[in-house]
Amino acid sequence: MTMDFKSLFRPGILATRPYTPGRPIEEVQRELGLDKVIKLASNENPEGPLPAVIEAIKGAAKDINRYPDAACHELTQKLAAHLGIEPASLIFGNGSNEVIDILIRALVSPGENVVFSHHSFIVYPLTTGVHFECGRPVPLAPGDKHDLAAMAAEVDDKTKLVIVCNPNNPTGTYNTTDEFRTFLASIPTNVIVAIDEAYYEYVSAEDYPQTLPMLRDHPNLVLLRTFSKIHSLAGLRIGYGVGHPDLIGELHKTRAPFNVNLLSQVAAMACIDNWNEVAGRAERNREQLEWMETELAGLGLDVVPSQTNFILVRTPGDAGKVTEALLHKGVIVRPMHAFGLGEGALRISVGLPAENQQCIEALKEILS
Ligand SMILES: Cc1ncc(COP(=O)(O)O)c(C=O)c1O
Repeated sequence: MTMDFKSLFRPGILATRPYTPGRPIEEVQRELGLDKVIKLASNENPEGPLPAVIEAIKGAAKDINRYPDAACHELTQKLAAHLGIEPASLIFGNGSNEVIDILIRALVSPGENVVFSHHSFIVYPLTTGVHFECGRPVPLAPGDKHDLAAMAAEVDDKTKLVIVCNPNNPTGTYNTTDEFRTFLASIPTNVIVAIDEAYYEYVSAEDYPQTLPMLRDHPNLVLLRTFSKIHSLAGLRIGYGVGHPDLIGELHKTRAPFNVNLLSQVAAMACIDNWNEVAGRAERNREQLEWMETELAGLGLDVVPSQTNFILVRTPGDAGKVTEALLHKGVIVRPMHAFGLGEGALRISVGLPAENQQCIEALKEILS
C-alpha cells in the first residue's frame, strides 16, 4: 500500500534541508582508502576530554540502569556556584542546541517570528524552519559581523526572540560590548534576546561583552553556553542556558524529561571541578589559530580574523572543489559557499599543531 506521507507534514518541514554534519573520519577513510584522515570541520576540541572526565564517566557507568537526575540538581548547584548566579537561573539541554530548540518552541506561536543573522549558526534557520517557518534572517554587516542595528530594525510586534551568536559561527567575528549595550537598549523588553556564546571561553578580545552581569539590567536576556567546545564533551551533548529565574522556570516545563543523560551530568561536573584547565586550552588554541591565520594569509587567502577555534577563509574559485581536493589529502574541512558567504568560503577548525601543519601543506599543494 502506498501512502502520501508528505501531505501529512507541515509545509515548513517539507521545505527544510536536513542538517549536514562534518563528515566522520572513518567514512572518509573507508571511501577514499586513506590511512590517516584529520577532521577540521566541526569546531571540536582536538585535545580530547580531561583524564578526570574519563574517570568520572567510568565511575558512573555502573549506574546507567537508572534514570539520571531529571533536574540536574548537583550539576546545577555546582555550575551556579562557579558562575556566581542563582541555581534557578540555569537550564541544561542535550547540547545547547536543545536549549535553542526549547526557546523557539516555548516562545513562538504561529504568525510570530525570530530574528537572527543570515550567516550564522545553521541550527537557527533549521529550527525556526520546522517551527511555523518563523525565522527572519538579516544580512551581516561589512566585515562579516552581525549588523545589530539592522537586526533591531527587523524586530516588530510579532517578534518573540532575537538570537545573536557571539562570537559568530561560521565567521569567527564578534560584536563589542558597546555595540551590545546599544543593541540591548533598542530591543523592547518583551522580546527575548538569546546570545549564543558557544565559543565564549576562546575569546581574547578585551572589548568582547561580559554578558552575565548584563542579566541584572536586562531580564529579557538569555545566555547559551556549552560543554561541547572548550570542555571537549561534544560527543556527550550537554549545554546550558542562563536567564531570569521566572523565564527559565517556564522553559523547564517544555524540555523532555531526563533530557540530560547521567554520563553527561557527571562529565560536566568534572569539567567544572577542573575549570582551571580552560585558560591553557584557550591559550593553546589561540597560538595555533594565530599561526593558521598567518599561514593562510601567506597563501594569498582572504582570512576573516577569528575569536574562536575556527577560521573562515575565502579561497579563489569554488570552495567545494578545494574541500574535495583537501579530502583526497586526508583533511576534512567545511565549505561555506552554500551559506551565501561567497563562492570560495571555507571554514577550517583549529586542530592540534601537526594537524594544522598537514592542512596548510595540503592547501599549499592544492593552490599552487
Ligand atoms: C554557535 C553554536 N551554538 C551552538 C552549538 C551547538 O552546541 P552543542 O554541542 O552544545 O549543541 C554550536 C556547535 O557547533 C555552535 O557553533
